[in-house]
Amino acid sequence: MNPGSVLEVRDVTVRFGGLTALDAVSLAVPPRHVKGVIGPNGAGKTTLLNVLCGFIRPDEGEVLLRGRRHDIRPHRLAGLGVARTLQGVGLYQGLSALENVMMGATSRASAGFWSALLALPRSGRDERRLREAAVAALDRVGAADAAGAMPGALPYGMRKRIALARALVAKPALLLLDEPASGLDEAELAELSALIRDLAAEESLVVVEHHMDLMMSVCDSITVLDFGKVIASGTPREVQGDPAVTAAYLGADPGGSGAC
Ligand SMILES: Nc1ncnc2c1ncn2[C@@H]1O[C@H](COP(=O)(O)OP(=O)(O)O)[C@@H](O)[C@H]1O
Ligand SMILES: [Mg+2]
Repeated sequence: MNPGSVLEVRDVTVRFGGLTALDAVSLAVPPRHVKGVIGPNGAGKTTLLNVLCGFIRPDEGEVLLRGRRHDIRPHRLAGLGVARTLQGVGLYQGLSALENVMMGATSRASAGFWSALLALPRSGRDERRLREAAVAALDRVGAADAAGAMPGALPYGMRKRIALARALVAKPALLLLDEPASGLDEAELAELSALIRDLAAEESLVVVEHHMDLMMSVCDSITVLDFGKVIASGTPREVQGDPAVTAAYLGADPGGSGAC
């Protein structure tokens, strides 16, 4: 029903034994849109991201990328134009920032994963293209100066930027960010917020995050989950003012007035 969507989730249900982690969840993400997903602990946010990147197959419902169904598997993500950052940082300590980012591009380079890793490219042209793409991705996240540094020598915020560059280098149409604000200080949060808006000029993003101020400032729309169900969806301002959302965060009965 949303022909222009980069991502459409239709009535997705995921059960773990007797527990319904996602209950007929639907959402759509148009091009160049930042979709936030929030909700109390256990609401199903991580499960939703895991469905989007193929770690979990839904029991019911479907996920469409640019209007089409795909067999979404983690190793096929890059080919489908989807990239994800991990909850932590997940950089290889023995590789420089640039080399870490180059590894994110290997699925697009004909030389392949191992030759890139070992810096033994099948052709000098592949190697050069890979390097250029990685430098451009580092530049896009404001980390060009860190290209030659080893991750261990860099501050946490900079390591997160490099992890983001690694996700961006394959030029995804859809970027999935799992708790990008965790561990960042106030200055880094402001930078992250500017960076997310900047990325949205080209990509669509789905952001799972607890940090409300960040979500209010960067998201075009927010879907609120509680016990696996969508309890609200709309602009940040709309969901912020929704009594069901307040109730979910306070652990109160969203039905409110005592009706049962
Ligand atoms: N692999 C799993 N096996 C069983 N239950 C799970 C599994 N993953 C998540 N759950 C349960 O599903 C619900 C949603 O979890 P999760 O998606 O991690 O929530 P959130 O990320 O919003 O905190 C929780 O009740 C959680 O305990
Ligand atoms: Mg989670």
